[in-house]
Amino acid sequence: MESTRYRLIELLETSNHQYVSGQFLSEKLNISRSAIWKHMKELEKDGYLIEGVRRKGYRIAGSPDKVSENTLHWGLQTKWLGKNIIHKTTTNSTQQVAHQAARDNAEHGTVIIADEQTRGKGRMARQWHSTRNKGIWMSMILRPSIPPAAAPQLTLLAATVLADVITKYTSAEPKIKWPNDLLVNDKKTAGILTEMQAEQDRIQYIAAGIGINVNHSNNDFPEDISNKATSLKLETGEDQQIVQIIQKILMSFEKAYDSFIQDGFSDVKNKWESYGYKIGEAIRIRTNSELLDATFTGIAEDGALIVQSETDGPRRIYSGEIEWFRK
Ligand code: BTN
Repeated sequence: MESTRYRLIELLETSNHQYVSGQFLSEKLNISRSAIWKHMKELEKDGYLIEGVRRKGYRIAGSPDKVSENTLHWGLQTKWLGKNIIHKTTTNSTQQVAHQAARDNAEHGTVIIADEQTRGKGRMARQWHSTRNKGIWMSMILRPSIPPAAAPQLTLLAATVLADVITKYTSAEPKIKWPNDLLVNDKKTAGILTEMQAEQDRIQYIAAGIGINVNHSNNDFPEDISNKATSLKLETGEDQQIVQIIQKILMSFEKAYDSFIQDGFSDVKNKWESYGYKIGEAIRIRTNSELLDATFTGIAEDGALIVQSETDGPRRIYSGEIEWFRK
């Protein structure tokens, strides 16, 4: 059923607003003309403007900017990412839905998207505020054949994809704050939460969660984060098209992921560093055992932060509180 709908969408899309006859569609899809009509009614529910004219057929006169499985498929040029999309108007967390779907054998590249999350999860067990229809709240199920230790590289890759898409399709200038916060003008615009289910030497699946504040106004953020968080709209002054941004992310992510699997991490590392927040600057790191003043020089193959310590040379940092605004 679903795949017939997607094929129908493809046929209508390639007809590029011209009339397509019911006969043609029914032959191509091998379903009755009344079944075609039912599909058209479903598309109308998503906000498509469909003109049906006797003897001429159907024509799409207008497409909605509303997130749905149909609208996301419309024009999505990917080979494997988002072939299976699960869209929820509201859910607790797309990560939770992704874990369940992955346990139920959802395929590599399955994407879960919600208009709103009631218990959005951030890193370090923090809460992630996910206002209805204002942002992108999505999780991707990935089943890479890489060692579990290389999984953090995928998180870094996801951050570079977000930075690329934001740079290319909006006027915002994003930076990536280690390990994977996206900042615009020093405020957080997007975050990534990667969770993995693995055996010793094999990844069963990764649920890569992406949250982007897109069309929020100031009063869409709760007071306790409003001085640290921002949205693309707040920083650019422009309303952004959510469906289009999601599609650009999926297309760019697929490309970057395929190159990473084939060619390894070095391009991702270079790109990450080109967006790196405060690279070359002094930072202060508080680990469990010490307070370290150092210059942030880059990231390592394993995703660690590389710093040049003022007292004892280059060091790799895996976790710690970092003060980015040391004087
Ligand atoms: C962070 O910066 O702390 C990571 C935030 C990740 C938020 C996204 S929104 C979609 C997905 N579902 C969740 O519950 N969290 C991630």
